[in-house]
Amino acid sequence: MPATIDGIRACVFDAYGTLFDFASAPLHCEDELGEKVKPLTALWRDKQLQYTWLRALQHRHADFWQVTGDALDYAMETLGLASPALRARLMNLYLSLETFPEVPGVLRQLKARGLVTAILSNGTPHMLSAAVNAAGLTPHLDAVLSVEDAGVYKPHPDVYQLAVDRLGIPAEAIAFQSSNAWDAYAASAFGMRVVWCNRYKQRPERLPGNPDAVIQSLDELPALLGRNQD
Ligand code: LAC
Repeated sequence: MPATIDGIRACVFDAYGTLFDFASAPLHCEDELGEKVKPLTALWRDKQLQYTWLRALQHRHADFWQVTGDALDYAMETLGLASPALRARLMNLYLSLETFPEVPGVLRQLKARGLVTAILSNGTPHMLSAAVNAAGLTPHLDAVLSVEDAGVYKPHPDVYQLAVDRLGIPAEAIAFQSSNAWDAYAASAFGMRVVWCNRYKQRPERLPGNPDAVIQSLDELPALLGRNQD
């Protein structure tokens, strides 16, 4: 058990892959996708992230709804799937992704301890509010922050700064949770305290930053947080 992380006032979460299971959308279409469920899930996600990084580097931002659709088009074409109805079905499911099972209970516990809870995500405000509402998480979250207000994607430091500014809490009093290793390392390099929720059993990144703790499920988070900062 790692040492506790003390002095935290807010718990900020990545959305996709951390709170919401992006694999649940293709899984709901298994009737049409068959054995292509897994390759579609992986390729869609990989391309989606690549497009965010590439667009950020080019200073050619397009919002996450467009990027998610572009990535899906690429993945479907690669896998020989040419159905506009299936595309629409998958995109629609992205607005009501399932949460990982422990998520509502953990958020409830953190709020009961007096911690501020928030999402900080690449998602558009519409995508995030749809997913939060569909999952019934609204009462458990104090803020839902979208990179659209920074105009650039993670891991640009402006995105992590958005959480500091909006919550009015310094980076060192924010615990940031992400299952995306690159996101966790970047938030750590920025100055937040970071819990890497390594759901996907990734290897450590060779990037700036050093997460304070690594867990397998958010269930382990409440016990990791020591005394709140007064
Ligand atoms: C997000 C992506 C990185 O929610 O998962 O920001």
